[in-house]
Amino acid sequence: MKHLLICLLLSSSLFAQTPDNQYNLIPFPARFSGQNGQFSVTSSTRVVIAPATDASVKALAQLFASQVKTANGLALTVAPTSPALAKGAHIFFTLNKKLVLGDEGYKLTVTPTKVLAEASTAKGLFYAAQTMRQLLPAGQTTTPAMPACAITDKPRYGYRGLMLDAGRYFMPVPFVKKFIDIMAMHKQNTFHWHLTEDQGWRIEIKKYPKLTQVGSKRAESIVGQYSQNYPQQFDGKPSGGFYTQEEIKDVVRYAQSRFVTIIPEIEMPGHAQAALASYPELGCDPAKGYQVATKWGVSDQVYCPSEKTFTFLQDVLTEVIALFPGKYIHIGGDECPKTAWKNSAFCQDLMKKNNLKDEHELQSYFIRRIEKFLNSKGRSIIGWDEILEGGLAPNATVMSWRGTEGGIAAAKQKHNVVMSPNGTCYLDYYQSNPATEPLAIGGYLPLDQVYAYEPLPTELSADEQKYIVGVQGNIWTEYLPTPESVEYMAFPRAIALAEIGWMQTGPHNFEDFAQRLKNHLPKLDVMSVNYAKRLFDISATTQANDQGQIQVRLSKLDSDSRIFYTLNGKEPNEKSTEYIGPITLTKTTTIRAMTQTGGRLTQTFTLHKGKNKPYTYAIAPDSNSDPKTTKLTDGVRGETPRDRRQWTSFSGDMDVLVDLGDVTSVTKVSLNFLKIIMNRSFPPASVDIAISKDGKDFKEAISQPVTYDLNGPWDILPVVADFKTARARYVRIRAKNAGVCPAGHPNAGEKTWFATDEIVVE
Ligand code: ACM
Repeated sequence: MKHLLICLLLSSSLFAQTPDNQYNLIPFPARFSGQNGQFSVTSSTRVVIAPATDASVKALAQLFASQVKTANGLALTVAPTSPALAKGAHIFFTLNKKLVLGDEGYKLTVTPTKVLAEASTAKGLFYAAQTMRQLLPAGQTTTPAMPACAITDKPRYGYRGLMLDAGRYFMPVPFVKKFIDIMAMHKQNTFHWHLTEDQGWRIEIKKYPKLTQVGSKRAESIVGQYSQNYPQQFDGKPSGGFYTQEEIKDVVRYAQSRFVTIIPEIEMPGHAQAALASYPELGCDPAKGYQVATKWGVSDQVYCPSEKTFTFLQDVLTEVIALFPGKYIHIGGDECPKTAWKNSAFCQDLMKKNNLKDEHELQSYFIRRIEKFLNSKGRSIIGWDEILEGGLAPNATVMSWRGTEGGIAAAKQKHNVVMSPNGTCYLDYYQSNPATEPLAIGGYLPLDQVYAYEPLPTELSADEQKYIVGVQGNIWTEYLPTPESVEYMAFPRAIALAEIGWMQTGPHNFEDFAQRLKNHLPKLDVMSVNYAKRLFDISATTQANDQGQIQVRLSKLDSDSRIFYTLNGKEPNEKSTEYIGPITLTKTTTIRAMTQTGGRLTQTFTLHKGKNKPYTYAIAPDSNSDPKTTKLTDGVRGETPRDRRQWTSFSGDMDVLVDLGDVTSVTKVSLNFLKIIMNRSFPPASVDIAISKDGKDFKEAISQPVTYDLNGPWDILPVVADFKTARARYVRIRAKNAGVCPAGHPNAGEKTWFATDEIVVE
């Protein structure tokens, strides 16, 4: 008893010190006021609904009660409103048609004596319930309580989406439901279900059984990154799966109960290889023998725009329409190479007959026919931004993924746009240092960068901005074979996008978001979500001081934890030196750091005579590859072929001169080259490293060919010139491009390129 009392006192004093920590709402409401006191939920609390006859209100109240049971272990009874209950300390869900907060807005008032949610729609009440779930504690406590507050809330955008690619890897139904649950909890309302791909067709179509008998299975999958191995390696393991129509109906019902609309995507005219493997007559060259794809990338094998294909697609879409009640059908439209159409007499003839000037117009003809069909069934199309090419179908919504240009162009043409630019919305990109992350497709998109996204392009006038209807995060699964791996990449970045889609315009403060997120994460733990803990990462940046030493600045997204570090290689703990300002290094050092919240960093800083020394290019590197002419001497080495950020690339030869400032002893010069044969990145044929006292007379030179095995995985190849006891001020590196890709390479005869990182002078 005594023990319990102490605990209560402790927790209430903690509460008093950090009142803001009670309200960890994501997305944060439009209008919010925190108040004193709390509403305790007990077994006698009722969930009272009014009007009692509204089936959707009843259903959402029951769902709320079941979610409280799961999260907090407390069984609440849903009851119709009555004069007696109206006076009690209960949770009220009340439809109030007079409220003017749009079809998703709500008002929520939490006082110590009652909780009142009001909205003009059941959907609004559902979002009030999601806010309540977030106000309640994460797990089971004796008396769960909601802190008192007054909220008036409504979203910025009507479209707040997430896309899940079930084509590359099949994602099982229970996981799809869990994914929808997490979306709904953060008030996202659109689930874009990517159902057909080159690597797998995932939806049962009764009229075309081979789509699932053949098209849902592939023989094997590529091992590692697309260009990791030369030649590419395959795992020999069949992969497959599809959703039956009954399962789809079940998922649609499940989503409806959470006010999530599903947009199915049936890809055309590209990304169709699994369909062609099932029905080869839909391709331009049936004799080819199509197979379900086993590697990623863009396939040349696309639908032929024949009457057979249109009949097939209309039949497929007819079944799709019957399954998905939402207004939109996504028809893909992205990444459709025109090779097969260029080589097809049928396509060339069709273009002539229809006055189509090129294959882009043929694609536009394709999409317009499909749009016409879907419009005739009362549905509208969404397509990736390639549907702009060759002319936009009259009523199409554009999903802008290759940056924002497509979205801007579509809005200027008065078409609705969903913003999903890859640079801020592709949640399959690396979220932290690629060297220490699970293999991903590439890119670099940490949580704070997602959160900084502003969906309204400044290029649009106020009138054009109206066409930006929302924002969507995409989870492509080439490198995400399991639900756990999807969760790791999707969360918490998708939650940041949920807030971007919901929160009203104005400055979004990442520190504030990160603080709320940190306190919200235990709720994801209760749901067993395998979210990434990168919020707690420590990162390091360097700069030189006036004495030529380097200073390492440590930072973290999570602002209120402390950093401790060691410089002697030992594991850090809370007794190690606490980080209070930049760490000055005078020699090559490994910094190991930790935070109490689980943040970790191990990074080696290479100090050498060339560090931060200026250099000049006699032959420019590839554009944007070293924009400030600093990367080759910044003391940070490229760690892995997965991460291209540190590498400087050359499509021709390399000729660089480093100026050390003074004549000094130079014993060794070394640098690394990338080998990514599949990606045409061949180490240079030869490297000359020369040194000089005056920059004119290069007496000492060491010339060496770079030898390596063409076959095998990508690699980093060191080149070292050992000068023993020389003295010099200038170091010159000249490297010769390896020429063209050899016979047998998929790009035989095409030019190679190479890439290097730090020029280390010792
Ligand atoms: C896409 O990422 N190909 C839409």
